Amino acid sequence: MSLHAFDEIIPRRNSRSAKWDSAPENDVLPMWVADMDFRTAPSVVAALERRVRHGVFGYAKVPEDYFQAVTDWFSRRHGFPFKEEWLLPVIGVVPAVSAIIRALTVPGDRVLVQGPVYNCFFSSIRNQGCEIVSNDLVHRDGGYEIDFRDLEEKAADPRTTLLLLCNPHNPVGRVWTREELTRIGKICLRHGVFVLSDEIHCDLAMPGHRHVPFASIDDAFLACSVTCSSPSKTFNLAGLQTANILAADEAVRRKIDKALNVHEVGEIGPFGIDALIAAYTGGEAWLDDLRRYLHANYRHLRDVVERDMPRLRITPLQATYLVWMDCSALGLPSAEIARRLYDQERVWVTEGTVYGAAGEGFLRINIACPRSTLDDGLERLKQGLG
Ligand SMILES: Cc1ncc(COP(=O)(O)O)c(C=O)c1O
Repeated sequence: MSLHAFDEIIPRRNSRSAKWDSAPENDVLPMWVADMDFRTAPSVVAALERRVRHGVFGYAKVPEDYFQAVTDWFSRRHGFPFKEEWLLPVIGVVPAVSAIIRALTVPGDRVLVQGPVYNCFFSSIRNQGCEIVSNDLVHRDGGYEIDFRDLEEKAADPRTTLLLLCNPHNPVGRVWTREELTRIGKICLRHGVFVLSDEIHCDLAMPGHRHVPFASIDDAFLACSVTCSSPSKTFNLAGLQTANILAADEAVRRKIDKALNVHEVGEIGPFGIDALIAAYTGGEAWLDDLRRYLHANYRHLRDVVERDMPRLRITPLQATYLVWMDCSALGLPSAEIARRLYDQERVWVTEGTVYGAAGEGFLRINIACPRSTLDDGLERLKQGLG
């Protein structure tokens, strides 16, 4: 497939899209929620067409080739072989995170996050009656680092039982290195803190960066962690509600399985099953093209911002299609900047404070769209902020 295929504008307004149909006005350009304006891989479309033609949509049984497709994918793409029986299918990563917190903590426990971080982490922790403790990332030289001393201190608190790791990180776009993950893992092991690694963005590392699955580093890390993954960001399948939990330890897996049943989130549907198998077995070439296109979009955005909006700074994007832009030089709260952009320029981006107080001064911009749509967005940003 040529990269030009990603240039196609696929109208999404009036398609019951959360991204495109949530604004009441139809001149608003949505660059907020994390889904893409691209058609998914041809192998997925073909599999779903076959399913539709079958015309019978009863309860589904997750087949053996589903589990095989997941394990082969992680082995091939991420050098991480694991056993099929360690997997628990689930209808989404957020429901998985909530169920895992329920299974592995008791109300009142402290759960560590690394802010600014994906906002649903906060609600999942709170909804299970736990307390959020943030080991805020350090913003240095335009990029982000982990404050390991602070992490050690917070992990040492006996009330801290779980770390919710975002690997790669949304919204700051970091791919954590093996060294960083090893330090995190050692700290957590030392203090008996279990790790929940959300790796939903693992397939979207930019050229020059390689995702390292936390659990792949060491057998001890594998035993004291669970990993969540999904083809949803990678192949733009979020609406099909299919994800997986990898839990190697049998007792932990049993507890999580029980919580999935209590939350009623462990039954995935026929469309999600077919889509996952088709994506992981037939979507690899499409994905590599997509990653090249996203990288070109990122470089283009960075060049335009440097040239036309010199007060803004783009955080280096190592993974995801979500750009984290430093607007602190404007001296305004990010909620106000986002509101102004929405009201005056009709572009919808996400204010950084959605991801916690550490996101103040930043905006998150979704660049998974055709180049001409991105250019439209950049023009609106320039009018509003340049
Ligand atoms: C880190 C992270 N986890 C989970 C999700 C959502 O997962 P799901 O739609 O499977 O619940 C997102 C979506 O943006 C995300 O960025």
